[in-house]
Amino acid sequence: MEPTVVDPPLSAIERWRSLPAAQQPDWPDPVSARDIMAELANCPPLVAARECDLLKHRLAAVARGEAFLLQGGDCAERFDGVTADTVHNKLQALLQMSAVLTYAASIPVIKVGRIAGQYAKPRSKATETRDGITLLSYRGDAINGHEFTSAARIPDPRRLRRMYELSAVTLNLIRTFATGGSAALSEVHAWNQAFIARSPTGRRYRRLTGEIDRALRFMRACGVDPAAVHTTELFTSHEGLLLDYETALTRIDTHTGRPYATSGHMLWIGHRTRDLGGAHVDYFSRIANPIEVKLGPNVTPDTALGLIDKLDPHREPGRLTCIIRMGTEAIWDRLPDLVHKVTASGAQVVWVCDPMHGNTFESPSGHKTRRFTDILCEVESFFAVHRALGTHAGGIHVELTGENVTECVGGGADITFGDLHHRYETSCDPRLNRSQSLDLAFLVAEMIMTPERSNPGTAPRGRPGPVEHSPRPPNGPRS
Ligand code: PEP
Ligand code: CO
Repeated sequence: MEPTVVDPPLSAIERWRSLPAAQQPDWPDPVSARDIMAELANCPPLVAARECDLLKHRLAAVARGEAFLLQGGDCAERFDGVTADTVHNKLQALLQMSAVLTYAASIPVIKVGRIAGQYAKPRSKATETRDGITLLSYRGDAINGHEFTSAARIPDPRRLRRMYELSAVTLNLIRTFATGGSAALSEVHAWNQAFIARSPTGRRYRRLTGEIDRALRFMRACGVDPAAVHTTELFTSHEGLLLDYETALTRIDTHTGRPYATSGHMLWIGHRTRDLGGAHVDYFSRIANPIEVKLGPNVTPDTALGLIDKLDPHREPGRLTCIIRMGTEAIWDRLPDLVHKVTASGAQVVWVCDPMHGNTFESPSGHKTRRFTDILCEVESFFAVHRALGTHAGGIHVELTGENVTECVGGGADITFGDLHHRYETSCDPRLNRSQSLDLAFLVAEMIMTPERSNPGTAPRGRPGPVEHSPRPPNGPRS
């Protein structure tokens, strides 16, 4: 990595300190927290400014309707989850999905992991009670331990140093994976064929993989060897929740003189911290990275326009991505007006669908879960709204893992409520497992290729308008 960044004069970047900052940790020892931030401020950047610019350039193509964004990874990364195998499996899942989506959409798919820094979680409740014992809530490995003991739950700023180190280790694994041959197109296609052979619903996708196979053979016949397409471009992202950490890793790019968050290529503002007058929006408005903001069902077009004015005042395509996370029911009521008004304002944002966070509920066994059909249904509504308005459905943002966990119900292998306990390993929200992720990619691919056909797995929707509610259990607690 080139040292293109230097320590910044941080006065403007630190203006957020005078504003209300939601969801910040309460360190029991603020002096040691300050020392750690000072240490981090002297550490090398994790990503280079020019890599962030490249991602912004790629996202500008998405904003113009010429590319698609696939963003995915854990809800919360864990320190003990940083192994070569788990990172590779996650990246494989992303690449497999991307190969299918690239073929279906016939446009480049920009791959961005929720990875190498996704360690801090906003929480709805400050405490958690189990069997009459109340402890501080788990806020991600960046802050405290997941184990339900009072010692583990005490916020410890030394964890920020660990987060920085493990983000660097993960980035190293990503860079070797992306350039070391594992990402060769022919290899990715072979993994997909193996998935089809094993999957109970594989038969359904055989036609599509057959077409991809033929396309690869066509490339070979034309003298373009798919095995020679060895490298791929992978970017990193995380929620920029911890403002002290992000500020400590903010550097000025020597070429442009602009400040960059160097903890990851792209950062997003979460649903709970997107207050227009709040600290997060102020910090994000001052960094030059491509940035995202999550928009839930309670966001009015005026609020969204206020956020766009503040976060993307120059209307720079690729600068701002709006991640829609409304839930299968609200999306149909709220999204058309939102997209219509934002588009009419002249803003050219990237629209991405997070079909996970509006569809969480508690299973009878007490597991926080999501239905595969709800996830698919929200994506389908997202595409239908954009189709009706003539705007570009720019991508999907999903929580996934490369492991065969049992956290979301449904999908090709049809995980039931009774299966959830087998491998329920998430420390926060339920993720799609490897095969559910691929199922989703194939079904979204079908949606892109045959938009007029409604998916049998979802409640059919014809055009934007009031949603028809299908009976489903009330949504349970959210993270
Ligand atoms: C998340 O992405 O894990 C998350 C907490 O999302 P949201 O801010 O949309 O609730
Ligand atoms: Co989550």
